[in-house]
Amino acid sequence: MPNISYVNGRYVPHRLASVHVEDRGYQFADGVYEVIAVRGGHLVDEKPHLVRLSKSLEALRIDAPVTDATLRFIIREVLRRNRIRNGSVYLQITRGAAPRNHAFPEHPDSALVVTARHMTWQPPAHALKGVSVITLPDIRWKKSHIKSVSLLPNVLAKQKAVDAGAAEAWLMDDDGMVTEGTASNAWIVTKDNELVTRQLDEEILGGITRQTLGGLAEELQIRLVERPFSVEEAKAAREAFFTSSTSLIKPVVDIDGTQIGDGEVGDITRRLCLAYDAYMNRAPEMASAGTERGQ
Ligand code: PDD
Repeated sequence: MPNISYVNGRYVPHRLASVHVEDRGYQFADGVYEVIAVRGGHLVDEKPHLVRLSKSLEALRIDAPVTDATLRFIIREVLRRNRIRNGSVYLQITRGAAPRNHAFPEHPDSALVVTARHMTWQPPAHALKGVSVITLPDIRWKKSHIKSVSLLPNVLAKQKAVDAGAAEAWLMDDDGMVTEGTASNAWIVTKDNELVTRQLDEEILGGITRQTLGGLAEELQIRLVERPFSVEEAKAAREAFFTSSTSLIKPVVDIDGTQIGDGEVGDITRRLCLAYDAYMNRAPEMASAGTERGQ
């Protein structure tokens, strides 16, 4: 558990870290967030995470509570005070506390919370073990590209996965096409060795791991196609996996009880795991794969 958290201008012991009962994040899920991995003391893909944060804020018309430079300082300070070299940092910005009223407050005072936690990153060899996923209808709102804290449908779907003994739930749109996972992006490798993930639209979050991995796939000369794929196509795929800042690349060997490929982690998934692990270890100024790809 982290010891020190940042809440609205103060570094406080984590057990005392709290926001006002009328914070609009608490009452209306009126806020956005980011999760950034920390590896060997540096933030993985900090820049694109902060770019996405700005876009989420803009989409919801929430004013940034601090400048980017101040935010970067606060993140580092939270990591320093908690002595975290490997783990993740969580930042949340809400429209702040105001007397309860659905419409925006006239003079909003946006709120910022930063927490961090230790995590031992699994070596890529861990990827030799695949996990299972279940599929469920995607019942989220129509703007899933915004990284909003409004996550109740994701929470309910993830719990269904846990109850079913699965690691993740892949969500399906009305046409039976996979949108993404509850907290990750979904990928398959077809029989023709094409790497497929859904194109960026308002139905999925533009994952930063997804973005980076796209760049790494290009470097590895793996053919990447961004298009919708159905649950049926996923079940017939040679390989499957999902990605996020905390799961990294998680091989999938079972979808709804159907074995994927030969039930082992596939070659392309393995190569991407190794490449992503090396990428995470690189100094930030070296780590630029995929950052030019549009989000
Ligand atoms: N979730 N899709 C959804 C719905 C997500 O919540 C996430 C990340 C991703 C992957 O995004 P990224 O690669 O930038 O982490 C895709 C974070 C980790 C979370 O909610 O904890």
